[in-house]
Amino acid sequence: MRVLLGIGGGIAAYKAAELVRLLRGDGHEVCCCPTRHATAFVAPLTLEVLSGRPLLTEAYLEPGTGGREEHIDAAAWTEVLCVAPATADLLARLSLGIAGDVLTTTALAVAGPWIVAPAMHGRMWAQPQVQEHVERLRTRGVRIVGPEYGALASGESGWGRMAEPTKIVAEITAALRPGPLQDRRIVVTAGPTYEPIDPVRFLGNRSSGRMGFAIAAEAAGRGAAVTLIAGPVALPTPGGVRRLDVETAAEMRQATLAAAADADAVVMAAAVADFRPAAVAPVKIKKGEAPPAPLALARNPDILTELATAAPGALRVGFAAETGDLAREALAKLERKGCDLIVANDVSAEGIGFASPDNEVTIFRRRGEPLFLSRRPKEEIARTLLDLVTQELAERGPSPAAGR
Ligand code: CTP
Repeated sequence: MRVLLGIGGGIAAYKAAELVRLLRGDGHEVCCCPTRHATAFVAPLTLEVLSGRPLLTEAYLEPGTGGREEHIDAAAWTEVLCVAPATADLLARLSLGIAGDVLTTTALAVAGPWIVAPAMHGRMWAQPQVQEHVERLRTRGVRIVGPEYGALASGESGWGRMAEPTKIVAEITAALRPGPLQDRRIVVTAGPTYEPIDPVRFLGNRSSGRMGFAIAAEAAGRGAAVTLIAGPVALPTPGGVRRLDVETAAEMRQATLAAAADADAVVMAAAVADFRPAAVAPVKIKKGEAPPAPLALARNPDILTELATAAPGALRVGFAAETGDLAREALAKLERKGCDLIVANDVSAEGIGFASPDNEVTIFRRRGEPLFLSRRPKEEIARTLLDLVTQELAERGPSPAAGR
């Protein structure tokens, strides 16, 4: 494969040399495009020798190229663009389409996937404007790798170290492999919802979000464009996944219905609260003035049920936590909520479910026999579920979203 490696002007640029070596070792062709500042950290000659190709440099702006548009030629040559390290400046310019140098102009003309490995000081990484740029890139399907936590050039520790070159290579390889869910849009919800009582208190549940995050990661790994709508959880966003954070059932409903409109499949793994406090106190309720007992509750709308009319063309997957007759309850729920698949588990069993890395489920479908999956890691359950989703979508034919 032909990889255009954009190198930003940060200390991690020295690792780009190793990245080139690994890519070449895997049989890829590499063209390096260091920014002007990057050449202060890694010598152009090093990159040229390791890649075995001339660099793509700002010389493209000078007369003497015979009128050839070098950035367009370079983009046509490129099958995948990798930017490592991506500085805060590069992230901003790539996300906004500001094309003031050879790397950013070429990037705009690249038809293939982008892999971006940010690296900077932890305090810079934490800035909302940096996060906004990263999120914007992610939303467009750019694969963001890292950064990782560890020692920074300043001697401090924090989030900001560039991902290891081996990880970046793995991401490049994954991006080039067309997955069985290529051209599919999949929406996954995960985690609990918090329903406020007052500005500091809420009603919630113990969902960790792990099941939904595992499903999102698996779907992205198969090439789908994944939107993950996450309730309040402390989990990192899986690579290549667009994440929307929400808090309440109402916010989750709004985000899910909007994202589901053009989705091929929606997986409702979130433990959406069925009830919310009927009134939210505008200020913190003091001990001395307890809320009227009992706390009045109002029903939340059922998102999965609404999806049957909001996204009738999408394959809809529900979850069911049961304590009674699993098959009877789950099949009734499948019918009631109008979904195609339902993943049911017996929450009265020990050691599985909410807080556990494992789960034990039975997957019921409209057509076909139920599939019992004995206790195993949630990642494995995600894999089997996605096998079924992939199969069902293949039977339904090409995505209505394809070709857009
Ligand atoms: N769900 C939803 N919106 C809600 C509540 C639940 O979309 N307001 C979804 C969940 O994401 C899950 C499925 O519905 O995929 C099943 O949720 P569950 O709580 O088991 O079902 P309930 O409808 O609440 O049924 P019951 O509590 O009576 O078992």
